[in-house]
Amino acid sequence: MKSPDKTALSAHVLDEIKELPAKYPQPRSAVMPALDLAQEELGHLTPAAMSEVAAALQLDPGYVEGVATFYSLFHLEPVGKHRFYVCTNLSCALRGANEIVDHVKKAIGVGRSDQVSADGLFSFEEVECLGACEFAPMMRLDHRYHYDLTSEAIDTLIAERRGVLHTRGEVAAKAAKAPEGPVKKPRAPRKKKADA
Ligand code: FES
Repeated sequence: MKSPDKTALSAHVLDEIKELPAKYPQPRSAVMPALDLAQEELGHLTPAAMSEVAAALQLDPGYVEGVATFYSLFHLEPVGKHRFYVCTNLSCALRGANEIVDHVKKAIGVGRSDQVSADGLFSFEEVECLGACEFAPMMRLDHRYHYDLTSEAIDTLIAERRGVLHTRGEVAAKAAKAPEGPVKKPRAPRKKKADA
């Protein structure tokens, strides 16, 4: 459970993290699930939490920090409860991904990826190809891929998470206008490289 005021991990989470290496052939493989547990508790990865993960796994702190900074799945600053990972690589860009990003920003009321919506619910990020180019433009939200995006589909997803759509009929009617594609195994999003 997210505890925004905490900066370090509780004893029971550290115990869980210490048990992880035994589940993998290479103990280093435990670093991502360990960071996941840390982030789930704190909402984002504080320097103290990364140090604690490194100590619990007996890994070099620089290695743990390197993993945390490589994947945009991990956050070093507070983020919204729901984060849009919008792919803006070539296939998605050719099919309107930049307009989708503009719509997301406007709909949640933020101008940059390091900002969180006023209600604390949403933030967004542009990411590299998520391996579902045939369904462009697409994104990941709440551990699920969403395909063939439109402004209406974005509005529906936001309304659902704000609890604005109350009845099954309302949700179904909206979903019929903005269908989701087949489920693919979500790939950990990679940060978009800064423009040269
Ligand atoms: S370019 Fe967007 S999923 Fe591949």
